[in-house]
Amino acid sequence: MVRAWLLSEEKTLVPKFITLEELYKTSGVEYYQIDITRYQDDPLLKNLMDQRDNHHVNPIKDLDDQDLLAHITEHFHEHDEPRLVLAGCGYFDVRDKYDEWIRIELIPGDLLVIPGGCYHRFIVENKDTFQGVRFLKDYGYRAFPRPSDEMNCRKDYMRRLYNGAYDDPIKSE
Ligand code: LAC
Ligand code: NI
Repeated sequence: MVRAWLLSEEKTLVPKFITLEELYKTSGVEYYQIDITRYQDDPLLKNLMDQRDNHHVNPIKDLDDQDLLAHITEHFHEHDEPRLVLAGCGYFDVRDKYDEWIRIELIPGDLLVIPGGCYHRFIVENKDTFQGVRFLKDYGYRAFPRPSDEMNCRKDYMRRLYNGAYDDPIKSE
């Protein structure tokens, strides 16, 4: 079972675990589980890609020091992007509505969709074994480091968060 917890509560030494419903409600981040042996044919993943027009498959593997540094630096992307873990373990930290970190522990089969404009960072447990795949729009990948609050995608995302766009559970695909 995937685990997500608030990093800000770390000082209590007991992680404050949150549910996937709470994760979605407070950040808009969607979580799904996929059979990685046939992920190319997975109807749910296909739907997520079609809905967002994300058909460019971008591997996350053979990470060098520059990749690791880029991933652990807080940033956001302009568009919603699904990413799927294929091997190894990684931690996605996403900022919630209150600007607190939520850590999500991911293992193979875990699929996360982080909304455009949502600040996050990514840490792998072992760079030599980690493998994942990201689904982007055809026209490329850019990370905007914090602070980039003036960008429209950020403003739109904040508006959605505060207008209750993520208050209801994720609609089935
Ligand atoms: C991502 C991480 C690697 O957005 O930043 O997929
Ligand atoms: Ni990113």
